Amino acid sequence: MPHESRVTSRPPLIAQLKARKPLEAYVAESEASSADGGPGMRRTLGVWHLTAISIGATLGTGILVVLGTAVPLAGPAVWISFVLAGVAALLSALSYAEMAGSVPVSGSSYSYAYATLGEGIAWVCGWCLVLEYAVSVAAVAVGAGQYVNEALDAFGLALPAAIAEPPGAGGVLNLPAAVLVLLATLVLVPGARESAWVNTLLVVVKVALLVFFVAVAFTAFSIGNFEPLAPMGAAGVSAAASRLFFSYIGFDAASTAGEEARDPKRDLPRAIIASIVIITVLYILVAVAAVGARPWTTFTDGEATLVTIVADITGQPWVAFVFAVTAVAAIASVVLTVLYGQTRIFVSMARDGLVPRVLGRISTRTRTPVAGTLIVGGVVAAAAAVVPLGALADATSIGTLFAFALVNVSVIWLRRNRPELERTYKVPLYPLTPLLGCAFCVLLMVTLGWVTWAAFAVWMVVGTAVYLGYGRRHSVLARAS
Ligand code: ALA
Repeated sequence: MPHESRVTSRPPLIAQLKARKPLEAYVAESEASSADGGPGMRRTLGVWHLTAISIGATLGTGILVVLGTAVPLAGPAVWISFVLAGVAALLSALSYAEMAGSVPVSGSSYSYAYATLGEGIAWVCGWCLVLEYAVSVAAVAVGAGQYVNEALDAFGLALPAAIAEPPGAGGVLNLPAAVLVLLATLVLVPGARESAWVNTLLVVVKVALLVFFVAVAFTAFSIGNFEPLAPMGAAGVSAAASRLFFSYIGFDAASTAGEEARDPKRDLPRAIIASIVIITVLYILVAVAAVGARPWTTFTDGEATLVTIVADITGQPWVAFVFAVTAVAAIASVVLTVLYGQTRIFVSMARDGLVPRVLGRISTRTRTPVAGTLIVGGVVAAAAAVVPLGALADATSIGTLFAFALVNVSVIWLRRNRPELERTYKVPLYPLTPLLGCAFCVLLMVTLGWVTWAAFAVWMVVGTAVYLGYGRRHSVLARAS
């Protein structure tokens, strides 16, 4: 393999950082790899699988848990916050759709950046994607662990804190979170098609869960709960929108499946746009139903909001139990799909020589990156077992926003530099849409606190060290030049 050995004569650092991977090389490489008899992954996923991957990665902790922390910020106008966060996500989603239709590989924004903005920015983007994917899986699994305990608690079977909480929160190990990640890892090993089936099933379950919630909550709907609409004014509504952006993260997950999609150029843009529209509609319905059913002043941080509303309206503890169990399944599919995305992004990065080759090794039997899946799953399970949730969620948001901003820039770069390229989807109102998409991302980034920025800076310093110590020396592109 070309990137097995180190690069002995390297180009100057600046030239290497600016080097772009030719678009055609990317596409040819992924097509050769996934062709019948090729060494790569199999093309088995259709448009519904892809849409389910994006919905699976998106719909979870945000709507089930974070909604409860956003209502006290915005008041009944929280649904407007969902619209605002949804518009911000949609603008970037359109850019993702255009890029996925032009560069249908598995590396998502990392690959788009490599083809347009060069190796340096691509590495930064890939490193940010580790925040969006691997770190967020750990965070989401911790959230699911809390639901597991709540379900068990209904029967007086709550796990002892020692094995249900991380160090620093009164425990030694968060076992449910770690087990969830390990189970998802095992589901991912046999093949993309098998895990896509499991995921599609989980997505149906969680959409049904939210529809059930809306139906129950509307039976207790009171229009009076919407008076006054925005007690904290526009500032409250926008603060809640920043917080709720977390609930939209993941719509881009389909773009990590470019090499396993049957017709990526046609289906990836469709899947990304369909998922963001479905998710936004569901979120707004849930927000209106929740506030209509219960005065906004009674929403508090730290409660499993939707479960308590359903339990209060029905008066049946078993309904709360079933709801909590289903919520775990909902969050499990986020863990499954986001873990899937991370392993595929690493395949692209390993092929380029920027991360160790073992992460990109495709098993000839399953045609999946088995070793990479086990390594990523093991590391994320360990993190989920010992790291508390809090700061992880904000770190996820800042990394994601950075990657989204770069995708918007990539669209503009590609339109200017490769106008002739075949695009199966084009963003409307170019260049306004990607410019606004980028502006929204920057705006949401600056509203995050300095602690998050400090954590982000440390993350980037570590990333720079990893690049200089490994990627720069093993880069396939640098070797070829
Ligand atoms: N959007 C994902 C969730 O809400 C991260 O769980």
